[in-house]
Amino acid sequence: MRRFPGHPRAAARGALIGAAFALVVSAACSSLLTEAPADGEVFDAPLDGLTSVELAAFVRGDEEFARRFSPATGLGPVFNNVSCASCHGGDGRGRLEHSLQRFGTEADGFLAHLGGPQVQDRAVPGAEPERAPAGVAISLRLPAPVFGAGLIEAIPESVLLALADQDDRNSDGISGRVNWVSHAPYVPASEPNGSAGPRIGRFGRKAQTVTILQQTVEAYHQDMGITSEFRPSENRNPLAAVATEAADHASDPEVPTATVLAVVHYLRALAPPAPGEMTAQRRDGDALFRSAGCAACHTPTLRTGAHPLRALADRDVPLYSDLLLHDMGDALADQRPDGSATGREWRTTPLWGLRLMRQFLNGQAFLMHDGRARSVDEAIRLHGGEGQRARDAYVALSPAQRAALLDFVESR
Ligand code: HEC
Ligand code: HEC
Repeated sequence: MRRFPGHPRAAARGALIGAAFALVVSAACSSLLTEAPADGEVFDAPLDGLTSVELAAFVRGDEEFARRFSPATGLGPVFNNVSCASCHGGDGRGRLEHSLQRFGTEADGFLAHLGGPQVQDRAVPGAEPERAPAGVAISLRLPAPVFGAGLIEAIPESVLLALADQDDRNSDGISGRVNWVSHAPYVPASEPNGSAGPRIGRFGRKAQTVTILQQTVEAYHQDMGITSEFRPSENRNPLAAVATEAADHASDPEVPTATVLAVVHYLRALAPPAPGEMTAQRRDGDALFRSAGCAACHTPTLRTGAHPLRALADRDVPLYSDLLLHDMGDALADQRPDGSATGREWRTTPLWGLRLMRQFLNGQAFLMHDGRARSVDEAIRLHGGEGQRARDAYVALSPAQRAALLDFVESR
């Protein structure tokens, strides 16, 4: 696999500029571009088929995604990190230290009086960070990759409903179901899946969020303490001993709507990394992946429907997920329901982009909702509940077969 020096985002932007540059200069200059990563080797390349206007908007959104906030530009009063990219480094799977702690449920008002639904463990000078309250169930969440979000959003609800098998009518021990959630009142009906009524959640480790817009607005508000017209009031620590009103001097809203929409467009147009080459061993691994029952949840390909962004319409999405909720057993349960997801259910994690994971995490791997697994082998062995049968089938394989299956999964 090709490696490239420096910051992955800078390298990717280099590739973009490089690509545009290559169009104007002659092939003789191509040696200038030898440091740029090949197509499909980066986490922040745009989808194919964007118009030049859409591409320009993508570059603008990429900058906003990387923009670091400070107290002067509105950070806080309480927050978790200073930019989207600081948690979603390389737009890929995050690091353990960038995890979020969630608590409270819809039924208990997300324990807002204790600072729920999220522990903001950092604060600007003059404000007090939150601490996880004693005696409540805390759910640790590793940052999820953000590439391919537009494709995930563009999969019609009918496709997900057709995959669901709530009562396990086919008796395979797997009963995936959708998470019906209501979205925030600020999401306009013109957004994909934006119309009123309960909608199928797709984003977050429990598929608790319906739209990229809501995920983005809440990330600004909850994760960075950045207000927008969608969420105009500051998020505060209700248990702070000192009043923190004065700690954040920036006037609200701290980002204009255009900035939020630029980030939404960026995520929508962000391509997933291309899968690695198919080899004989990986072909064997693919067959074993299917025969062991992995593909029953990690559906290799879903398809998008109509979409105003042409690059997203009627496309295959090789994400290796059904985007459904599965009971994964006691050991993985967080006992914190979310929408209609129970405290034992998790959304099948898409496996695309796994082959680049270690490249962005200094050779390390953090897998599963809380990052507890350090390798794909360990992640598989942690599958319980509806995943138990496939896990046992994997463990029963010969070492050579397991190696082939792992090679396949780690090449996606
Ligand atoms: C403090 C770290 C942190 C920051 C800062 C952050 N995120 Fe996240 N992000 C997370 C975590 C953790 C999750 C998984 C949340 C969950 O499951 O509840 C997530 C999930 C997401 C997802 C859903 C991906 C999926 O398929 O489930 C998107 C999209 C996203 N973030 C976008 C953003 C944007 C845009 C920003 C900046 C405006 C941002 N994030 C800032 C930690 C962060
Ligand atoms: C019953 C559905 C189901 C089956 C069958 C299943 N998985 Fe999973 N898989 C999940 C869910 C749900 C998660 C997320 C669990 C969590 O985060 O706690 C997951 C997580 C993973 C992860 C971690 C990905 C990441 O980025 O964190 C890997 C790798 C994985 N599965 C591979 C496999 C393989 C290989 C098989 C077959 C041996 C398999 N799975 C069978 C549902 C399933």
